Amino acid sequence: MMIFSSMLYFAASVAALTLNIASSGGNQSSSLLYGFLYEDIYHSGDGGLYGEMLRNRGFQGSSSNGVASLLRSTDYWHPVGGVSLAIDTSSPTVSSSLPYQMRMDVPAGTTGTVGFYNEGFWGFDVDATKRYIASFYMRGNYSGTVDCYFHSNTTGQVLGSTSVSIDQTSSKGWVQSYSATFQPGHTGSDANNTFYFTFDGSQLAGQSVYFNVLSVFKQTFDNRYNGVRQDLADALHNMNGKYIRLPGGNNMEGIGAPYYWKWNETIGPLTGRPGRPGTWGDINTDGFGLLEMMQMAGDLGLEVILGIWAGLYLDGDVVSDANIQPYVDSVMNELEFLLGNASTTYGAQRAALGFPSPFTINWIEIGNEDYLNGGDSSYYAYRFMAFYNAIHAAYPSINLVSTINPNPVTTAGSSLDLHIYGNEHYFVSLFNTFDQASRQYPVFVNEYAATNTGSNSKGQVGAQTLGMSCAEAIFLLGCERNSDIILGSAYGAMIKNFNEAPDTVALIKHTANEVLYTISYYLQKLFADNMGTKTLPVTAVGAGFGPVYWSATANSSSTILKLVNYNGNTGSSNAVQVIVEGSSKTTATLISLTAPNSTSVNNLPSLGGEASTITTTTLTGSAGHFSVAFTGSYEIVVLVV
Ligand SMILES: *[C@@H]1O[C@H](CO)[C@@H](O)[C@H](O)[C@H]1NC(C)=O
Ligand SMILES: *[C@@H]1O[C@H](CO)[C@@H](O)[C@H](O)[C@H]1NC(C)=O
Ligand SMILES: *[C@@H]1O[C@H](CO)[C@@H](O)[C@H](O)[C@H]1NC(C)=O
Ligand SMILES: *[C@@H]1O[C@H](CO)[C@@H](O)[C@H](O)[C@H]1NC(C)=O
Ligand SMILES: *[C@@H]1O[C@H](CO)[C@@H](O)[C@H](O)[C@H]1NC(C)=O
Ligand SMILES: *[C@@H]1O[C@H](CO)[C@@H](O)[C@H](O)[C@H]1NC(C)=O
Ligand SMILES: *[C@@H]1O[C@H](CO)[C@@H](O)[C@H](O)[C@H]1NC(C)=O
Ligand SMILES: *[C@@H]1O[C@H](CO)[C@@H](O)[C@H](O)[C@H]1NC(C)=O
Repeated sequence: MMIFSSMLYFAASVAALTLNIASSGGNQSSSLLYGFLYEDIYHSGDGGLYGEMLRNRGFQGSSSNGVASLLRSTDYWHPVGGVSLAIDTSSPTVSSSLPYQMRMDVPAGTTGTVGFYNEGFWGFDVDATKRYIASFYMRGNYSGTVDCYFHSNTTGQVLGSTSVSIDQTSSKGWVQSYSATFQPGHTGSDANNTFYFTFDGSQLAGQSVYFNVLSVFKQTFDNRYNGVRQDLADALHNMNGKYIRLPGGNNMEGIGAPYYWKWNETIGPLTGRPGRPGTWGDINTDGFGLLEMMQMAGDLGLEVILGIWAGLYLDGDVVSDANIQPYVDSVMNELEFLLGNASTTYGAQRAALGFPSPFTINWIEIGNEDYLNGGDSSYYAYRFMAFYNAIHAAYPSINLVSTINPNPVTTAGSSLDLHIYGNEHYFVSLFNTFDQASRQYPVFVNEYAATNTGSNSKGQVGAQTLGMSCAEAIFLLGCERNSDIILGSAYGAMIKNFNEAPDTVALIKHTANEVLYTISYYLQKLFADNMGTKTLPVTAVGAGFGPVYWSATANSSSTILKLVNYNGNTGSSNAVQVIVEGSSKTTATLISLTAPNSTSVNNLPSLGGEASTITTTTLTGSAGHFSVAFTGSYEIVVLVV
């Protein structure tokens, strides 16, 4: 007994870290700080955020061994009732942008039901509480009903159906037909469902009919036409980020000429969007185009950092100085399209597409990772300035971000974007990386992620572990402490399809009917939910940084201390003593994010669910003095006083 109590006394007297938070003397903090990067990577857009449920709806290309291809196929479509399906190029096509269609050949003498079904993007979410709508373009002779329905591959049940009445002849050319909206009678037991279009075979016996832009949408976020998936948009909304870079990433650059992201080929009717081979292994339909992205950003209340292509393809091919002007002109047209009033040429085009009010753009990022494949020299020599000069002359208040450090323009205030990937230990080591940074050049970290545990560097870990998220949290504390010049950060990637990319990192991952919220997601939500408007100086007594790391900020009503315990002590005898100078508050809110151990990961609900937990408690102290005890050796804590 004697020995036990004296040990306790000993522990309490030496282990304690005391943090004195000053009430003033800090810097103004960036109001953006936590944001998003959007690019279509591993079905972030098609088969992800974009609400289209059918895969290969417009026969725009395919994917072979993980490489996007312009080879057209009927992949993901399957015949029903003895018909055959083939890619066809006979005239007329639905548009010059979509010159390939699917032909259904119905054998002579057919009498039963014929048609085809689609596999979706790893199945379909069939939800009896939501509305759906199907549509398609068809050319050929048919008078009768088209039955459209979800079929469960697990139970064999028809989960929900609708129908379309058609009376058309091939002389009418292409006719678009919409089903009535329908609410399924049953919710699918899982995502293993298919979607059918079926016809009266006797009407079609011995004939061929043609299809393009077949489509099924579930009710979208904010009920937008051609909009985004509700559950995924909700996930982004709930994270409380402040900005989004779009369309960022390597996907904008394109795998090689001429497949960079062309804004003008992603707007208007879906039949006018050719799509292109994406960088990350599959064709992009471009159904989720510039206006859809801008609309989503607006609906989510996010500031936009517009990514523009700056003349570098991912294979290292670069547009020469002599040939760059048309690309600059195209960007200027894009800006008029987004920002011009309805009496400008491109502003009028936007208005005609249903967006009468100009958008607001305060940030433009010129390129993406322009140092890749030897892009540096041409970026500094002419590429950056060609775009900078034209945009700056027309829109002097827009901030122009460089993708290489240093910014080619050295005027104070010129900002840049650093992309940071590495293992967990590297992220811990980055805690103080911005402490000595120049205060002249504001920085975005518009892509970052701890991609592996400990000091491992081979491959990537799928869903991030608690240890990796704590390491990211330590890095973010370093950003927040320096948020006078660190404008914001965004995790790379924002969203990926779990079926396709279970083994690489993303903030959230989705299947057709589920969402995996990683611990990194919860970390960023916690930090974004508790953002101050200014930093506060902290004086530490008893220990320095590590294993506990911290950052203090304040808004007009509260002092906010963020703490990360990285393989440190727990329990009240090791509690951090916090003193908020000048505060007389006797209660504080303590929010904790942790999981059973450093290797814990979150998973899809159907695969075990989440290991991480967030707990909110009220802490009682005395006049600005609080004692914060960690419950986990890896834990992220926010104290709001
Ligand atoms: C405020 O910024 C200066 C650099 O301009 C830095 O030295 C100082 O640590 C910052 N203060 C806080 C509380 O972050
Ligand atoms: C659906 O189940 C079948 C086996 O019955 C399987 O081959 C297929 O991969 C499953 N599809 C999805 C999307 O789960
Ligand atoms: C449609 O029917 C007409 C005769 O009514 C025929 O001439 C034409 O070839 C048919 N079209 C197709 C695509 O079979
Ligand atoms: C599910 O799909 C598989 C493969 O396509 C098929 O063989 C099986 O019959 C289907 N099961 C049901 C219940 O539809
Ligand atoms: C879109 O703009 C690019 C660049 O100006 C141009 O090469 C392309 O032909 C345009 N596409 C269409 C469909 O007008
Ligand atoms: C529309 O924009 C043009 C070009 O910027 C400008 O000259 C014109 O005054 C604007 N019209 C209105 C009504 O704001
Ligand atoms: C200040 O931050 C705290 C903690 O996030 C929050 O609860 C409070 O609403 C914020 N106050 C203001 C005025 O924004
Ligand atoms: C870590 O926690 C997870 C649950 O999140 C558990 O499955 C695993 O066994 C634990 N590992 C160790 C080494 O304790």
